[in-house]
Amino acid sequence: MASDALPPCSRNASKPGLAHIISSNKEHPMPTYDLLLLPGDGIGPEVMAEASRVIEWLNAHGTATFNTDSDLVGGSAYDEHGEAIADATVDKALAADAVLLGAVGGPKWDGVTYEARPEAGLLRLRKDLQLFANLRPAICYPALADASSLKREHVEGLDIMIVRELTGGVYFGEPKEITDLGNGQKRAVDTQVYETYEIERITRVAFDLARKRGNKVHSADKRNVMKSGVLWNEVVTRVHADEFSDVQLEHILADNCAMQLVRNPKQFDVLVTDNLFGDMLSDEAAMLTGSLGMLPSASLGATDENDRRKALYEPVHGSAPDIAGSGVANPIATIASLAMALRYSFDMGAEADLVENAIAGVLNKGLRTGDLMQDGSQTIGTTAMGGAIIAEMEALSA
Ligand code: IPM
Ligand code: MG
Repeated sequence: MASDALPPCSRNASKPGLAHIISSNKEHPMPTYDLLLLPGDGIGPEVMAEASRVIEWLNAHGTATFNTDSDLVGGSAYDEHGEAIADATVDKALAADAVLLGAVGGPKWDGVTYEARPEAGLLRLRKDLQLFANLRPAICYPALADASSLKREHVEGLDIMIVRELTGGVYFGEPKEITDLGNGQKRAVDTQVYETYEIERITRVAFDLARKRGNKVHSADKRNVMKSGVLWNEVVTRVHADEFSDVQLEHILADNCAMQLVRNPKQFDVLVTDNLFGDMLSDEAAMLTGSLGMLPSASLGATDENDRRKALYEPVHGSAPDIAGSGVANPIATIASLAMALRYSFDMGAEADLVENAIAGVLNKGLRTGDLMQDGSQTIGTTAMGGAIIAEMEALSA
């Protein structure tokens, strides 16, 4: 049976050296991977351009070769094909070793039908690729502790891994409809639904990650109100007892969890929760780290018989139409998403560390995009930030 085991995550990542990279080059033939780039809308193409430069650097210096292809998703796909993602693009995503996505959406498409709205492209990718495990690390870079909305002592060293269930729950449950009651009233229904296996597999991902980090899992649900919460709680409790009793488990009500995240966020290590709570709690956790422009994510499927899993990597932030095209967007979340791809899809932990340490190094030098501005720091644009990260990668690997 395929295992849900994940490669180690970034906690306590050590500084990489190019020696590792060069020596593994000699020992193994260089693998080639297909990476599908879906820049999307708004600032998506701008931040993706910087990730592409990092990919080029890795192709020249790393232990693998990435063949990239680029395609449309979201509003840009709608403009071209009349739908938020074309079947051919989904086929490419299914065939690729990994997908890197920018962002989707914008006011330009406010008027399109619900089925064709830009977000539908992203949701279809998640569903068709069966990307049930969404990993959203909320890490506070030391240089940014003062950019957080919380006091430094609450966020310095913060390292939370949110594990959000991504293919079930109210996002996809049926019925999902608005009916006209014929008396001037309408009735809207969304369905929150979870089956045992869906909770089991996301729970295993969370416990497995916790073993490689702080060995603690919080599971957030609303079992005091929702039947799906009762089942969630029951399944997490059983999987813990049967398979992961060495890991510390705490159940927490999702509303209390939202409160605890701003009261004392460092109590959390891994936080596992459903699709909707995970959507909200991950935005909240992201903001603790200084800016939504910092945070990457990985959406993973189950491993197949060749021990490979479908995967999509994307920044947590949106398409920021208000600043699109002006060259000021922060590319860090997209570049950090590429680092997650290196770690989780390509087993290139040294290169992932290199990219993440380069990001930290650039921030330590006081370089900031506009979203991160602090007194005494220097504002640079999207391209300069990408260039600074690449220069730092050069320096760190020299
Ligand atoms: C996210 C986003 C998406 C979601 C939107 C764009 C559909 O908010 O990835 O968190 O709700 O999942
Ligand atoms: Mg969201």
